[in-house]
Formats: sequence, structure tokens, C-alpha cells
Amino acid sequence: MISVTPSKNSRLNTTDFNNLPFGMVFSDHMLVCKFKNNSWGPVQIMEYGDFSISPAAQVFHYGQSVFEGMKAFKNSSNDILFFRRDENLKRLNQSAKRMAIPEITSEIFYDGLNTLLKLDSEWCKSDPGFSIYIRPFIFASEPCIKASSSNEYTFMIILSPTKTYYSDPIHLIIEQEYSRSASGGVGFAKAAGNYGASFFPTNLAKKKGFTQVIWTDSKNHNLIEESGTMNIWFVIDNVLVTPKLSDTILGGITRDSVILISKDLGLTVQERDITVDEILEASKKGILSEAFGTGTAVSVLPISSITFKEDKVTFSNLETITLKLKDRLLSIQKGIALDSFGWTDKLTIN
Ligand code: COI
Repeated sequence: MISVTPSKNSRLNTTDFNNLPFGMVFSDHMLVCKFKNNSWGPVQIMEYGDFSISPAAQVFHYGQSVFEGMKAFKNSSNDILFFRRDENLKRLNQSAKRMAIPEITSEIFYDGLNTLLKLDSEWCKSDPGFSIYIRPFIFASEPCIKASSSNEYTFMIILSPTKTYYSDPIHLIIEQEYSRSASGGVGFAKAAGNYGASFFPTNLAKKKGFTQVIWTDSKNHNLIEESGTMNIWFVIDNVLVTPKLSDTILGGITRDSVILISKDLGLTVQERDITVDEILEASKKGILSEAFGTGTAVSVLPISSITFKEDKVTFSNLETITLKLKDRLLSIQKGIALDSFGWTDKLTIN
């Protein structure tokens, strides 16, 4: 049973949907559910807004927190189409397990999403380019600064209408000093601290004029892992190549979708180790034609350049496989193309 307290003052009519900087605009409602005495309590949906929390809440001190990023789209019949949300629930619970956080039940997740999205469906526009970015997250909320896993947690979902994540061309630099993750660590999980730890090296790269770094393995900095918050892909000799998953790489749902779409389109995909040397060599030979990133927030994102020390590889990004994959993914997500994979999950609004 979900208790709903509708907001009294909708911000819908005062929101400028033509100006949506990523992650800064939120819908009218949010979902809150608390874990106490070994079980998740009732789900509440209320007006989006600030809330009070103890300064001793464990999340502030030990970073016990995980999140998901997922998207829903609106089709031409005004239905909401969730994209592969079962995969988000699976990954949320894998992340939660690694961070000693109790798993969310599928009932809380699906019923909560359905109720929240029905209430805020107007925040998801059907016009081209729009989607609603859904951010479920769980954090340790017990007021206790002993260094141990918490006995209390809070699960929340907030919604952010969105268009694009990046609007400028993407220039990447291969990271040679800092690491995102190491074997045995939490790199495969969507743990908040993975992102917090990435900001300092990313800011150094930004100061040099790059958009993001390409993360490499923590031992030798020669194996390519991922880039910023995206999985990374290369087109070498017309073959799509992406690093194979390990416990140091976040397994993207967009990454998995692009693998399946590519195969369906008759393209060859290789999930394998890729070294920095191989990329530079392929570029020198003229067989490295494209590079792109994949992620929920960015979808399929063409990369304009990759820099490694004195070498800079540039991509023209004209008539590419990248754009073909992006279009295909988007038309499935929007319900324009036949969803032969069964990835979309329809919530009827009217
Ligand atoms: C996503 O693509 O959902 C991400 O995780 C990126 C996010 C950190 C903005």
C-alpha cells in the first residue's frame, strides 16, 4: 500500500522545458521508504523537497550509499515506456549487496515507480529529444558514527526531466595516474563514492580542456576500462570493440543494449581487453574510425578526440555506425521501432 500526498503547488507550468540543464530540474513528487528493524516500511509519495536528517546519519561519515540511473520515455499515445527497468533493479540490488545495504523488493520498486510516474507523467514530454531521468537511491540513515554498516536506510526515487547530458563535442584524455577502481573493490557497483572519487582527476582533466578522462587499469594504466560515467567503445576495422566486463567496470545497461542491437544489425562485436597501445596503433594504421560512449544519461555519445601524452586521435563523426546505433536505441525506447527485445514496459496514463 502506497500513501500519496499530492503536492499543492505544481511547478509544471513554471518550468522551462526548453532549458533543462541535466540533473537540475525535478518533478513535483518523490518517493520515500525507510528500512528499520530489519524490514522496509511503507512507501510514501510526497511533494518533492528538502527533508530533515540527523547529522550523525552514517551516509555522511562512511559513504554507504548506492544509486541507479534509468530513463522512461513518452510515446505518441501518451504512455510512459520504462526502458529495461528490471535490469536497473537487478543492478541496484547487486550494488546494495556489495555495500552491505539491504536489497529493495521488486514490489516497492515497480509499484513505487508506477505510482510516481503516473502522478508526474506530465513531466515526461513526448517531443523528440525528451525523456525523464529516474534516480532511485538508497543511503544509510541511522544516526550513529560507529564505523559499521547501518541498521537503518532510506530508499528514495526522484525524477528529472531531461534532454541532453553533454551539448559540446567530447574530448577525452587517457588517465595515467589516478584510478577509478581496483580488483576486489567496488568498481562494478553504482556506489556513490566511486563518483565522488572520480571528480578530482576529472577536474584536473577539465582544467586542461578535456571533457572527461578515460579510466585505465590501476596497475599499469594500459588497459582501457571506461570513460567518465560511460562505457567506452571503438570501431576498429569495422568491428565494434568494448572492454569486457570485470569487477572494475560498471556493466552498463545501455552497453548491453548496444551489444544486442549491433548484433541484430549484423555488426560484429568484440568484448575483450583493449590496450592504449592498440588504440594508438589502430589510429596510425587508419583503421580506428569511431569511438563512442554509452550510458543511461548520455545514451550513445560520439567522441571527438582522444589524447594520450603527445598523441591526439580525432574523429570526424560523420555518417557513423555510432549514429545508426543511437537512432536505433532511441526509436526502441520511444516506441517508434518494434521492440523485438521486449525491453520496454508500458505504463498507460490515459
Ligand atoms: C547514468 O548514465 O545514469 C549515470 O550513471 C551518469 C550519472 C552519474 C549522471
